[in-house]
This record gives sequence, structure tokens and C-alpha cells, in this order.
Amino acid sequence: MPAMPYHRVRDPDRLHALLDAVLAIETDLELTTLLTRIVEAAVDLVGARYGALGVLAAAGSGLADFVHVGMDPAAVASIGRLPEGKGVLGLLIERPEPIRLAELSTHPAAVGFPPGHPAMTSFVGAPVRVRGRVFGNLYLTDKHDPAGRPDPAGFDRDDEQLVTALASAAGIAVDNARMHAQVRELALLEERERIARDLHDVVLQRIFAVALSLQATEGRSGTDPDLARRVTDAVDSLDETVRQIRTTIFSLGAPPGPSSTLRAEVLGMCAEARRSLGFDPEVRFAGPVDAAAGGLAGDVLAALREALSNVARHARASFVSVSVTAVDGHLAVVVADDGVGPAPVAGSGVARGGGRGLPNLAGRAEVLGGSFSVSARPEGGTLLEWRVPLGR
Ligand SMILES: Nc1ncnc2c1ncn2[C@@H]1O[C@H](COP(=O)(O)OP(=O)(O)OP(=O)(O)O)[C@@H](O)[C@H]1O
Ligand SMILES: [Mg+2]
Repeated sequence: MPAMPYHRVRDPDRLHALLDAVLAIETDLELTTLLTRIVEAAVDLVGARYGALGVLAAAGSGLADFVHVGMDPAAVASIGRLPEGKGVLGLLIERPEPIRLAELSTHPAAVGFPPGHPAMTSFVGAPVRVRGRVFGNLYLTDKHDPAGRPDPAGFDRDDEQLVTALASAAGIAVDNARMHAQVRELALLEERERIARDLHDVVLQRIFAVALSLQATEGRSGTDPDLARRVTDAVDSLDETVRQIRTTIFSLGAPPGPSSTLRAEVLGMCAEARRSLGFDPEVRFAGPVDAAAGGLAGDVLAALREALSNVARHARASFVSVSVTAVDGHLAVVVADDGVGPAPVAGSGVARGGGRGLPNLAGRAEVLGGSFSVSARPEGGTLLEWRVPLGR
């Protein structure tokens, strides 16, 4: 930008007013309100009848937004449209430097006003830059004297300097407003993520625990059919609650983060499996699963993922139970389904299709000094057991 000849604004009252205006716009305001404040301050400071701030369109040319002060609403309505950034305004956009004119209509770039637009004579405008980039322009028209009469001399150099100062303060204020908006957005995202994680890791687990203990009483309430029915109803309604919470977690759009426990990951994986299975796996835990898992958590999850994917793809099951246990010095994943069962094959007794899933699990169990088996359940379906010793 070419160096501007420095011209001191002499009137201490106006300097005061400028400072007040700058302080007033340096607060956390919504952008349009902020822009309106800036224009109002500018109009007051230089004694203009009309003032406006045009925000440049991000792509191409022209104005995306336009805030104005001083124009009577009937005139605004009769003009019908906001300026597009042509004429002298276009000049401010193309060559973003302060412009001061005693008579707007005599400027070579002037294109005249649309029907219904009041005539305007004197003009002063300056670009508003945000972080070095032109954001828009602040301009004022029709200088008037303190009594409200048009001032034929138009705006002077003091006015131009004030408008330029206010335009640069406006740039900082806009930047500030944008940053505040970004911070708010970020805080909101973090909050959503935290809620989703709490729902997933804490609320769901507690509901599962309650449902499991209710299911355990179901067997014992056999003599009282009314009690048995109420317990079943309670479990059903917990199931429904879990489904709703999962939907909420899903719509919050936050995956459980690294703070997640093995239990939470297992529950999450089972919840996800619903989509491919068409029903919810039943999940049980026993023993200090999270504390025991340590570096084995990844293997446990890999075994579970493979087992659930096999059930979804091969078993044609209507029920799956998953249990993850840390008892008797072993960490185990046991997955049982009520599907077609592993096709028996002469010799081994269990089908070994061309797949890599089961051999991988067998190999991993062997490396860890554990055991692995896939067998037919007597009542039908398949039983997969992956077990490795703890504390080695
Ligand atoms: N739960 C199950 N019910 C019925 N059959 C199963 C079940 N799990 C595995 N099988 C059978 O055992 C075969 C071998 O499973 P494996 O996981 O090794 O391979 P895959 O699933 O076919 O392929 P991949 O795992 O490499 O994607 C399967 O093709 C399927 O026929
Ligand atoms: Mg498989």
C-alpha cells in the first residue's frame, strides 16, 4: 500500500470519540451487530447523513453483505435491492485505498443511483482489512454541520483520517468476532464429544449392569408369574433405552476416544454389529476385564470383531452372546450363536473355508500361549472360544 501522507486529527473531542468508538466495537458481538455499531460510530464521528459498510463477496466481485445507517426505511424499500458494488464503490473494491470526494456524481467511475435512491453529494470511504486481506469498505456520504444542514465543503482530511482509523479498528474487531465464533464452535464440539463419551463409557455400561442383574433374577422369579413378567418388561425397556442412547451417541457424531476402556470398546463394537446382524448381541463381562487387559486389549477386540463378522456373514443366526472375562488367570472371548453351525468336514470336524479370519485368531492365541477353538454347540449354532493367559 502506498504510504499515506500523515495528517493529524487535531480536535481532542473527536479523538476521544474515536477512542470510545474503537473501545465500543472491541467487544464480543455478533458480526452484523458489530458492523452496524461501526457504521453508527463513523456517522457520528464525521457528521455524515448516511453511512454503510459493504462486505465483499468471498468469490468473484461485488458485495456479500451490506450494513447501512441513515437511510429512511421507505427509501430502502423503494430501492428494493442492496448495492452490488459498482461505480465508486466498485473502485473502492478494485483499488482498496481511501477515497474522498466533494461531489460524488462528478467522479468518472460514478454510475448514478437507482430509482428511489436519495441523491448523495459528498463521499468519504476506506477499505476494511482483516489480517491484511480486504474484507469490505466503510463509507459515508453527505457531510452535514452540527445543525444538520448539508455542509457544501464536504468531508475534510480529518474526516478521511477518522474513517481510515475506524476502518482499521473495524478490521481488528471483525477478526476478533471471527475468532470468538471459532472458539465457541470448538467448545461446542468438545462438549458434544464429552457427552457422547460419557453416554458411551458410563451410562451405557451402568444400564448393561442393571439389565444383567435383572436378567439374573428372572430365573429365580419363576414361582411368581407376575414378578417374572415385570422383570421381563423392565429388561425390555432397558433394551429400548440402550437403543435410544446409541442413536443419540451416533447423532452426536463422536467416536469414543483413546480414553475408552476395553469394556466400552467391546460394548461399542457390539452396538455397531447390530447393523450387520440385525439384532443386538448379548454382552457379559466377568472379572477385572479393564485392569487385566493391558496390552491384550487389541487382541481381544480383533478376536471379537472377527467372531461377530463371521456370525453376520456365515451363521444366519437370530441370537449371539458375547462374553469377555478375566477369571482364573485367563482373558477370554467367547462368542456363541444359534445359527447354522460350522459345517462339519471329514477329519477336522470343523469347516475351514478359504478364509484367513479363524487361522489368524488361532495363530495369535498360540503366540500368546493360549488356546483357540471353534465348535458346534449341542443346541445348534457355533461356539468360538479365544483364551490367553494373563500376567505373563
Ligand atoms: N459363526 C459361524 N457360523 C457358521 N459358519 C462359520 C462361522 N464362523 C466361521 N464359519 C465358517 O468357517 C469358515 C472360515 O471362517 P474364516 O473367518 O476363517 O473365513 P471367512 O470368514 O470365510 O473369511 P475372512 O475371515 O478371511 O474374511 C467360514 O467361511 C464359514 O464357512
Ligand atoms: Mg471370517
